[in-house]
Amino acid sequence: MSAPRPIVILGTGYTGRWIRKLAREQSLPILAGSRRPEQRLNDLAQTARIQFDLDHPSTWSALPLEADLIWTFPAVPLEQVRAFATYACRHSRRLVVLGSTSAYDRGDEPLTDWPPWIDEASPVNADLPRVQGEEYLRTQQGAIILRVAGIYGPNRNPVEWIRQGRVGPTKKFVNLIHVEDLAALCLRALQTGRAGDLYNISDGHPRRWADICAEVSTRWGIVSPQEAFPSQPGKRISSRKALEELGYTLRHPDLYRTLATLQQEVGRNSH
Ligand SMILES: NC(=O)c1ccc[n+]([C@@H]2O[C@H](COP(=O)([O-])OP(=O)(O)OC[C@H]3O[C@@H](n4cnc5c(N)ncnc54)[C@H](OP(=O)(O)O)[C@@H]3O)[C@@H](O)[C@H]2O)c1
Repeated sequence: MSAPRPIVILGTGYTGRWIRKLAREQSLPILAGSRRPEQRLNDLAQTARIQFDLDHPSTWSALPLEADLIWTFPAVPLEQVRAFATYACRHSRRLVVLGSTSAYDRGDEPLTDWPPWIDEASPVNADLPRVQGEEYLRTQQGAIILRVAGIYGPNRNPVEWIRQGRVGPTKKFVNLIHVEDLAALCLRALQTGRAGDLYNISDGHPRRWADICAEVSTRWGIVSPQEAFPSQPGKRISSRKALEELGYTLRHPDLYRTLATLQQEVGRNSH
């Protein structure tokens, strides 16, 4: 069997660090990219990190020629994305790009209690610069695009969002994905996804914020300072394609069970 190709994470932030962790657990060779690796990645050995900045072409040559890429920040502006892709998308490397389910926000959603399900065939808002960058990479460069729902996990805890009043008990649907599942799906997409395809990434269970708030109040007595108010319907994202075609079973299918674990960690860290 040939040795696995190296992977470079373009932008090693919240998700990128989890990708790195899972790749190392799978013994995959991986390099972490950052605009300021000495400051942002100073916990990694120098040989495990590279400087990469989309806006500074002088940094692009640090990418090993044979490496596959996972791009974890918004693919904008289009001109810079094109320039980088022209430079980097050769040598049959594979490229996974993290997009956002906000691609489906077109501003013409009907005001209904039950927004329709959205799958990968649903129309996107092609006026969004990010969608333009992603669609260029997908259709012209064979990138695999993951349209990602709200990311949660350690230090990104929806219970804290409720406590802080960043969200309240509205009827709006929210779609979430645990960062560990997202990171695993990035690696799966790189390994088995079809070049030029796209996949929605969420836990497949859209929930209303009002329902999450009620459950959080019952379980932990935490209540949002926000009152209920009329809201947009939100979206209901189907992730069936990603889970079936990438052959992945979620490690965090049960939001409330995972929130309970996150709350235990919050408790431990506050003592
Ligand atoms: N947060 C959510 O709920 C959510 C929902 C849907 C989609 N997404 C998308 O999912 C992706 C991952 O999200 P995340 O929260 O893990 O992101 P994140 O923590 O912000 O990590 C992305 C990293 O990319 C690097 N970066 C930013 N601009 C760059 C540039 N021009 N050139 C090179 N590197 C650059 C930054 O690291 P350095 O400063 O070290 O360079 C940053 O830490 C993002 O594209 C995000 O928009 C997020």
